[in-house]
Amino acid sequence: MCGIVGYIGKRDTQTVLIEGLKKLEYRGYDSAGIAVYTQDGLQISKALGRLTNLETKLEGAPLLGSAGIGHTRWATHGKPSDVNSHPHTDHSQKFSVVHNGIIENYLDLKEELIGQGYKFVSETDTEVISHLVAREYDGDIVKAVQKAISHMRGAFALGVLTEYEPEKLVAVRQASPLIIGLGEGENFIGSDIPAILNYTRKVYILNDGEMAVLTRDAVELMTIEGNFISREMITVDWDAVTAEKGGFDHFMLKEIHEQPKAYRDTMRGRIDESGQSVVFPGLNLTEEKIRSLNSVHIVACGTAYHAGLVGGTVIEQLVRIPVANDVASEYRYRSPLITPETLVIVVSQSGETADTLAALREAKRNGAHVLAITNVVGSSIARDADDVIATLAGPEIAVASTKAYTSQLIAFYLFGLYLAQVRGTKSNEEVAHVIAAMQSLPEQLESMLANVEPIKAYAEEIAVHQNLFFIGRGMDYAVVQEGSLKLKEISYIHSEAYAAGELKHGTLALIEEGIPVIALATQENVLEKTVSNIKEVKARGAAVMAITHEEHVADLLRSVDQALSIPKTLSLLTPALSVVPLQLLAYYTSLARGNDVDKPRNLAKSVTVE
Ligand code: F6R
Repeated sequence: MCGIVGYIGKRDTQTVLIEGLKKLEYRGYDSAGIAVYTQDGLQISKALGRLTNLETKLEGAPLLGSAGIGHTRWATHGKPSDVNSHPHTDHSQKFSVVHNGIIENYLDLKEELIGQGYKFVSETDTEVISHLVAREYDGDIVKAVQKAISHMRGAFALGVLTEYEPEKLVAVRQASPLIIGLGEGENFIGSDIPAILNYTRKVYILNDGEMAVLTRDAVELMTIEGNFISREMITVDWDAVTAEKGGFDHFMLKEIHEQPKAYRDTMRGRIDESGQSVVFPGLNLTEEKIRSLNSVHIVACGTAYHAGLVGGTVIEQLVRIPVANDVASEYRYRSPLITPETLVIVVSQSGETADTLAALREAKRNGAHVLAITNVVGSSIARDADDVIATLAGPEIAVASTKAYTSQLIAFYLFGLYLAQVRGTKSNEEVAHVIAAMQSLPEQLESMLANVEPIKAYAEEIAVHQNLFFIGRGMDYAVVQEGSLKLKEISYIHSEAYAAGELKHGTLALIEEGIPVIALATQENVLEKTVSNIKEVKARGAAVMAITHEEHVADLLRSVDQALSIPKTLSLLTPALSVVPLQLLAYYTSLARGNDVDKPRNLAKSVTVE
């Protein structure tokens, strides 16, 4: 959590830092701050709330200089406030630190430092670092940082500046992401690539336990113990504009509309030219290993977990292997039965989610083969996994995930088909049939996105409510869980997603006159049963909106208040279409309530704390 950025070079440092922080605001926006080495020494400016507050403050008192660090905060230790904002400094104000992560032993360190006479002004764990660096400084900032971090336990990505050596910017990565951007006569650090993409495409990705010393003209990489290392430079081919809104009002809407492209890109190169089979060149998971598997665990958080719910059903249906789905924060603690015959699939858009990364490591420790489905190829999860299936959704900026989720579904369909091919659980014809249906999905999605008016109108209806329910069966149940999360996180309306048949076991007591119920009814094998469940809530006064296939609309309209249709595809593939009206519903409801769609309260895009 939190975003950090750093710059050393010839440009206006303040502008580079602010531009970088704008790209990182999705990582947290409780406060923002920068420290710049100016002609009056190290100067810090910070402000509670959104980055614009800091920008306003800087308009009146700009920080002009040649090196700086910046931070956008998602509060963990200490409430959002000016004083708890980063950068932090020591009592001499000669050192400045930005930090992403958590220092687990900060209370012990704080006590020790207070005992030695150091004065603390904030409630943060980060302030400990600035005092530690100051205490350890003996004329060499690199050594001081190394000594300081040798006392620290936890997760941290750091940017450190000192007034004593203004020609150096020190960066450290230990279990929180950090990249280095390389320029001509200038260099950068950032929590992720978009932060520096306006200035350079050349990057080094640091590994855990590594640090970098940046000057204007050079970058030295070393381990945190001080052993020099070399690293291959990566040239990023994303266009900076792909990370911009491209004419849409919000990133979320843009990203919803990018889904047809994300589907095509994620399928590209993974379906053979004849369209008959799936190929995964370069997978370390051998065919022999695939045949020996006896279980699959799918582990993820939030929206990625919901994609895993669909993925689990897909794999069980296509491959007939038992699948267990787990929320990553629970996985390690339930002592899961992991053997070398277990395939553990971790799903993560960012590839940096701390709980998912910890689950991955637990699975590896227990001998499982770990496959990551992720949208960020250079991420920690991608690098730690035995295999990676990249979702090619492009950078996702809105906090509420949309195109990453649907691309994860596509990855699961492809991978499920691949497993079925290898294990022979589906015939060539059956595989080809599913592939053909998948290839139609992008066009079907485009037709849906061309007519969003009915969902927009419905969003305005529900925007005045405080509670509502989603129901569905089978795959529809998995999808409504995602629809409900999406609505909650950006509209702040309380909603619950229920297996339609489960309501009568308690929750039906909450159904009262006029309460909106959104029923997803696309799964042919349980359609009649879903209709019965719809009638149960209708009889208690609910206002029901159904989403179904065109052919069932007329029939359903006898039981519901209104219905929307989605194009017809195989039941197995329906989630790749049926989630889209729910994404749009969340978007337009949030809009109708006047919320900040792309940056919902209390949340951050990348959750790098457990
Ligand atoms: C909700 C959302 C979150 C993430 C979750 C995991 O819209 O985006 O629920 O899905 O925090 O994040 P990743 O996929 O980056 O591991």
